[in-house]
Amino acid sequence: MNQNDTAARIAHVFRGTFVHSTPRTALEILQDCVLGVDDEGKIAFIEKDQDVVSLSKMWGFKTSDIKQLGQYEFLMPGMVDTHIHASQYSYTGTALDLPLLEWLNTYTFPVEAKYKDLDFANDVYTKVVRRTLKNGSTTACYFATIHTDASLLLGELADKFGQRALVGKVCMDCNSAVPQYKESHSECKEETDRFIKELLKKKYLNVKPVVTPRFAPSCSSSLLSELGAIAYNNKLHIQSHISENKEEVELVKTLFPGCKSYTDVYLKHNLLTDRSVMAHGCHLTDEELEIFCETGSAISHCPNSNISICSGMLNVRNVLNHKVKLGLGTDVAGGYSPSMLDAIRRTLDTSKALTIQDPQHETLSFEEVFRLATLGGSEALSLDDQIGNFVVGKDFDALRVNVCVPDGPIDLFPGEGPKVILEKFLNLGDDRNITEVYVAGRQVVPFPDT
Ligand code: GUN
Ligand code: ZN
Repeated sequence: MNQNDTAARIAHVFRGTFVHSTPRTALEILQDCVLGVDDEGKIAFIEKDQDVVSLSKMWGFKTSDIKQLGQYEFLMPGMVDTHIHASQYSYTGTALDLPLLEWLNTYTFPVEAKYKDLDFANDVYTKVVRRTLKNGSTTACYFATIHTDASLLLGELADKFGQRALVGKVCMDCNSAVPQYKESHSECKEETDRFIKELLKKKYLNVKPVVTPRFAPSCSSSLLSELGAIAYNNKLHIQSHISENKEEVELVKTLFPGCKSYTDVYLKHNLLTDRSVMAHGCHLTDEELEIFCETGSAISHCPNSNISICSGMLNVRNVLNHKVKLGLGTDVAGGYSPSMLDAIRRTLDTSKALTIQDPQHETLSFEEVFRLATLGGSEALSLDDQIGNFVVGKDFDALRVNVCVPDGPIDLFPGEGPKVILEKFLNLGDDRNITEVYVAGRQVVPFPDT
């Protein structure tokens, strides 16, 4: 396919170093290459740059329009935050002194109850979308709150700022210690239907609804079944939490005595599909991981949160050995950082802590964790046919990284090649190094108003 036989025009051409992952190779470094993006935001070509003149003729772009990356710059795929609570962003970085179930009732539910107020929602949701985009999350899988209108507003803001997003109106009809923060079963069903219908009606290109039972302890069995049916009938994604902390696992055993395991609860209610992503999973057994593999359901690994509220340490190596899809999540505000670079670092820390406990444990490499933050996240959200790496035909979701920005956090020394430069960025970099962000070919950072 080329410019002569399609209507596609080339909107951007970059030349320089590209780093990405493939299913076979955790880190592929493509030097001296050119990448073209068409006017629908899709990757049109990625080739060695000696052919740039013939490419320019074939695709009808001017070589003078090529964006040349500098010696200390590269393009990488946008990062995929597979689990973040937009509604908890206001207290990120605080309130990390209680374990999960007390943390929810003491800090989380009272704050989430405030999203009845759309002005409050607008302020926090604007800030979380901008903050995560600036930090390189081109895709976010969001929990909102039980409030339909505020959840629709989150979808509107993600679309406005150009972030790819799955947005979930939270469903919960039991076990909240905050009386004003729960819904009746019928209200929950009706409002979930309304949320899905209204969000789909907007026809946002890159923002879609996700069916969101908060977690088994917050939902009656009948609500869980209802939500499984809604997801099935509308072919939608599903997100929830699973086996985050041991007290929660025990609670689920008492609440669902007819189910063999926490995983069995979701399985029995038709909530484990190849579009399901379950956060945490720290205490899943191998048998449960086999069910994840068989159903094609994914795990969102949220290491900052797992440590911050003392939930547990997920053995990612074991999950990958079970061929279960896995992406990374910030889990704001159980996790105190909205940055996926932090999720990468905490993933490596947790893996190393497991190796300290058991020297036989095979520590994750930084290249593997880079893949989890990009391609792995796209697989976990079943979006890997659209995003995750630089493959012709996929949407161009990308970060332009410059490790040598003035007053930046990284120092380089002679002889450091692209692999070391990437490793330094992953371990030491921050949003100052992410100079441009693209989602589906649209440049969304720097923000148009700055
Ligand atoms: N389990 C149920 N709800 C939540 C939440 O908001 N955060 C975390 N970390 N776990 C949960
Ligand atoms: Zn969560």
